[in-house]
Amino acid sequence: MRVLIVGGGGREHTLAWKLAQSPFLSRLYCAPGNAGIAALAECIDLSPVDIDGLCQFALKEKIDLTVVGPEAPLAAGLADRFRGAGLKVFGPGRSGARLESSKVWAKDRMRRWGIPTADFAVFSEYGAAARHLEQHYVNKPVVVKADGLAAGKGVVVAPESAAAEKALRQIMIEKAFGAAGEQVLLEECLFGEELSVLAITDGRELVMLPSAQDHKAIGEGDRGPNTGGMGAYAPAPLLTAELARKVERAVFRPFLAGLRAEGIDYRGVIYAGLMISDREIDLLEFNVRFGDPETQALLPLLRSDLLPLLLATAEGRLEQALSSLDIQWREASAACVVLASDGYPGPYKSGKVIHGLVQGDPPAAGGTGAEEGLALFHAGTAFDRSGRIVTAGGRVLGVTAWAQELPEALQKAYRAVEQIKFEGCYYRRDIGHRALKR
Ligand code: AMP
Ligand code: GLY
Repeated sequence: MRVLIVGGGGREHTLAWKLAQSPFLSRLYCAPGNAGIAALAECIDLSPVDIDGLCQFALKEKIDLTVVGPEAPLAAGLADRFRGAGLKVFGPGRSGARLESSKVWAKDRMRRWGIPTADFAVFSEYGAAARHLEQHYVNKPVVVKADGLAAGKGVVVAPESAAAEKALRQIMIEKAFGAAGEQVLLEECLFGEELSVLAITDGRELVMLPSAQDHKAIGEGDRGPNTGGMGAYAPAPLLTAELARKVERAVFRPFLAGLRAEGIDYRGVIYAGLMISDREIDLLEFNVRFGDPETQALLPLLRSDLLPLLLATAEGRLEQALSSLDIQWREASAACVVLASDGYPGPYKSGKVIHGLVQGDPPAAGGTGAEEGLALFHAGTAFDRSGRIVTAGGRVLGVTAWAQELPEALQKAYRAVEQIKFEGCYYRRDIGHRALKR
């Protein structure tokens, strides 16, 4: 099979690494890819949101399956366009992607579909929103959310109403996120522990993946501004078998029923960002794609072949395929430590030569030079003119290790991290701290 991956970060490198192990794969392309992906796939110089360009490429190259990594092309209708052209895609169309691209729409559906979530109100005018704060949130924590996609920066958890008002001003008056801030949610602040549960679904049948926890804050102890994710581990011990059944019952079944009721054709990943407190679960957000860096910790745990699973999903025949797919997970834990450029999530420098990459570079099946249970996934990397691998983004690499138990996986990952050097390399030393405390 000829497969095209859309995207060029750590998540896409992990997808490429896993798909490259499939006996069914004949050719792998990635648009735009990165320096690590280039070892596994032919990188195509097309932007993930160049839908015309990608569609032409897929038709010309007779691509059998396109796997979409990031949300932006899904929200822009890549999957609709490809399906219209007779191409198979793993990823929801624009209507399903709205669950991520509009927080207002998503909260509305959660309420309508009966999925437990924090109380909220929606505003399109600053004055009304500020009055709501005064009436309901004086000296109380509140969460302010811009409606649209804001690269993970559109959410402010405010300890009290003054901080919330500042966020409101930035979004609604200073228009920090442009059109993404035309509507704003004011949301009750929930407390507890966050957990991500992802499922692969064709809109009818659903396969839950092991749970994962990511570390969004830049600083140790989960302090400082939020990033795309500084590390992740899976499975999260917080999700017991009983709680997993509850998540399926309270979140995923109503989600599937909601899709049916609204006639939404959904084939891809549904990612539930949950808050768990005293055995209560609330849905904070839906994402409509694999998480990054959760994927780096999740896919190494999948023992069976990913390609037929993604294909069956794209073809809408997951239920019929389930028995032959024989999905198997390793009885193991995985941890991913992200190496970032100093300064991220603010401004940072790029073009720094990365040393010590050999041991991790994951050739197709964890082959030559790679230690068993260790993979190095590239995120923001590129080749310079002399062919050296250099930094080219905020998040640069994701060092992933897996082992029987999480502490062992973490030790192995950190040992590998120490071998890698580039100027301004920053990483958190406390990935997995919550699970270790348990
Ligand atoms: P979201 O993009 O909606 O998941 O928000 C990003 C982050 O903000 C989440 O991962 C949480 O850490 C935090 N957050 C969002 N909504 C709430 C809430 N209602 N209560 C507490 N924290 C929240
Ligand atoms: N790591 C969080 C996300 O992918 O949205």
